[in-house]
Amino acid sequence: MSGLLTVEGGTPLHGEITVRGAKNFVSKAMVAALLGETPSELRNVPVISDVEIVAGLLRLHGVTVDYDVEGGVLHLDPSNVESAHVADIDAHAGSSRIPILFCGPLLHRLGEAFIPDLGGCRIGDRPINYHLDILRSFGAVVDKQVQGIYITAPLGLHGTRIELPYPSVGATEQTLLTAVRAQGLTELRNAATEPEIMDLIAVLQKMGAIISVDTDRTIRIEGVAHLGGFRHTALADRIEAASWASAALATHGDVFVRGASQPEMMTFLNTFRKVGGAFDVREDGIRFWHPGGDLRSIVLETDVHPGFMTDWQQPLVVALTQADGLSIVHETVYENRFGFTEALRGMGATIQVYRECLGGLRCRFGQRNFLHSAVVSGPTPLRAADIDVPDLRGGFSHLIAALAAEGTSRVRGITLINRGYENFLGKLEALGARATIADPAPAVAAR
Ligand code: EPU
Repeated sequence: MSGLLTVEGGTPLHGEITVRGAKNFVSKAMVAALLGETPSELRNVPVISDVEIVAGLLRLHGVTVDYDVEGGVLHLDPSNVESAHVADIDAHAGSSRIPILFCGPLLHRLGEAFIPDLGGCRIGDRPINYHLDILRSFGAVVDKQVQGIYITAPLGLHGTRIELPYPSVGATEQTLLTAVRAQGLTELRNAATEPEIMDLIAVLQKMGAIISVDTDRTIRIEGVAHLGGFRHTALADRIEAASWASAALATHGDVFVRGASQPEMMTFLNTFRKVGGAFDVREDGIRFWHPGGDLRSIVLETDVHPGFMTDWQQPLVVALTQADGLSIVHETVYENRFGFTEALRGMGATIQVYRECLGGLRCRFGQRNFLHSAVVSGPTPLRAADIDVPDLRGGFSHLIAALAAEGTSRVRGITLINRGYENFLGKLEALGARATIADPAPAVAAR
């Protein structure tokens, strides 16, 4: 991991930045293009390394990918889909978890798929058991080998009935991307309904799929024999928008996030207001600022949509270190998403983590050995430190802490942040942060 950033903290962030399409939608829409018989066009695509990784994987499979970086437009032509070499897939997949979602489309197009060892952020075990069970349920044969997992469908893929043990985002996407061209009807119960999934359903519908979503988390998909391409503008990245909002709050700043969209951020906005942050929803984005006075402590529980996103938790916890009193945060999506608090403690924050489910309902991590609740006591001044970026959201949170702290921090491994935050160094500069890169790394990791 490379990229060392020197941050001179204590300066409020002031100014305007733009967020483009959501990382956790764009990568899936790119995979969906594989299912089409004609080219697709995706707009509002950010320059982040996850997009580069998926583009690389698509190219390996014969898809022609043209990326107008400036305009944020991707052209994807899947006319000549072909098998890729195992070693190449492995080398390209790198730190991404997206390869697992190639299974359904590749089975439809080629009759086989190969999945290397998956990466992704180290925020828990991140198993793929739901994905493999789903693929088996459609009729796929899963063969685990030393290099990875080979998947075939000797008898084709047929519609099925699935009930997820938990409304997993990835497992819902796996089902959608496989069911749209499977023979017959698929019923998915206890599905995730995140806005990024709804946008993926919109894309699939444009391609010719028939998908309905019921109010009780049931999704029904009628398989069709052929799908075409799509033209679509990606929804805004609500995680990035909330990250900059938290940065504005923690640094006593004022940031206009052009492109941020209210409907997908309702739950975040309510919490932001309860903590004492101010915001103003405008036509073209949302302005977030610290209105002065003390921030208030809160009780917070992360959950699947429409609950408070797990990815909003880490940046907001930094702001909570500046709130008056005891805040309680119960993480119910990932069992291990408080590792980043250790570095915050080293910077002067008072945060204790617990195995118990605090402040909310008992969750599935309750009687187990996971430190998944946190108590944050504030306000505590933050002081500069040397930090190693642990994962994408944790890393951005450390960056916020360094910006809020007095003194000079050195943040190592910032290339990881490129996975999900477009041009974050340029945005820091635009917001008046005093941050200089000591060990330059490419804006987009070259995998
Ligand atoms: N899970 C299983 N088995 C599976 C799949 C998931 O037990 O086969 C569990 C996970 O371990 C976790 C829970 O189900 O405890 C929820 O995981 P989910 O499948 O919903 O997450 P994901 O699809 O792997 C996506 C985002 C994450 C985001 C979560 C929740 C992408 C590429 N990643 O992950 O984003 O936190 O949904 O909204 O879409 C990030 O952007 O930094 C990030 C981690």
